[in-house]
Amino acid sequence: MLTHDLDMALRDAVALIPTDQIFVLTDSNTRVHCLPLVQTTLRLPEQQVFTIEAGDANKTLNTVEQIWRFLFSMHATRRSVLINVGGGMVEDIGGFAASTYMRGMSYVNVSTTLLSDIDAAYGGKTGFNYNGLKNSIGLFAQPKSVIICLDFLKTLPAEQFLSGFAEMLKHALISSPLELNRLLEYDLNSRDTNELETLIQRSIVVKSYIVEQDPEEAGMRKTLNLGHTIGHALEQMSIKQGRPMPHGYAVFYGLLAEMYMSVRLLGLSDNVIRECLPLLYDYYGKPECSCKQVSELIDLMHHDKKNTTTDKVNFTLLQAVGNARINQQCDDKTITEALDWLFSL
Ligand code: GLY
Repeated sequence: MLTHDLDMALRDAVALIPTDQIFVLTDSNTRVHCLPLVQTTLRLPEQQVFTIEAGDANKTLNTVEQIWRFLFSMHATRRSVLINVGGGMVEDIGGFAASTYMRGMSYVNVSTTLLSDIDAAYGGKTGFNYNGLKNSIGLFAQPKSVIICLDFLKTLPAEQFLSGFAEMLKHALISSPLELNRLLEYDLNSRDTNELETLIQRSIVVKSYIVEQDPEEAGMRKTLNLGHTIGHALEQMSIKQGRPMPHGYAVFYGLLAEMYMSVRLLGLSDNVIRECLPLLYDYYGKPECSCKQVSELIDLMHHDKKNTTTDKVNFTLLQAVGNARINQQCDDKTITEALDWLFSL
């Protein structure tokens, strides 16, 4: 639910779930910036709020255990509900902890970043990073409710804003030339809120429609992986190097490189890349990577959970804007060419 009225949205969400106890999960950032707003409505005793350290580096089994221990210590039951207040990290890990606790208690996502408004909050992908691989342990478990409070966007730093915008770009590329043009016409400097709300709404519709058709990613939902094979490898490498790249930036670079592959392999018009490149020069900046890292990146891609064979990497590519093709098996030579191109921009 998209709203400016968090109070009413929370009341409605809670009223829909028969529950014995309500708990809130925040991270160290949302505890300070967002919890006070949530507490205006919920007024929970302090001990019913649990806070984890912010940042993808903490999306670990250890953090899942901390949440489980908290739930046990509070005698949570399967009729309890966990309200995740945060971005994708809190939603993914909170959703996982709730869905596995006592074989599953309900959870609600109160999204606090543009990135999670557009992607993580919806669709029920829960989990955590394991064995150096992003989201490699997890399960599909749908939230009982999703609240997108547009007021949180007013204070969102530019980097986080661009991170979310990259997922909007992905949805537009999958959806249609009309959606892509609308998005590329948006003035990122002005951040006009009326136009942004419309764009967010349209972007959420793209994802929601796909998730409704294919909730557990048997086919169509794989289109949402566009940009993510290379994007996840870039992100994982940056985490290993101790200089984490924001998820959306990695997705943006992944989209560019995978569009390059799409031009080579599926005949996508290179005009699409030309239309998107100003975003790199004007906003995202060039990726801080070099051609020397290509083999490490390809190695990470060979461990991607989306692969179906051991010798090739599975991609979603674009034949045209609005026509994504899933299960494109690509060899290392093609991936190398795309990464060399990306790093030479
Ligand atoms: N983030 C892609 C998906 O939810 O399927």
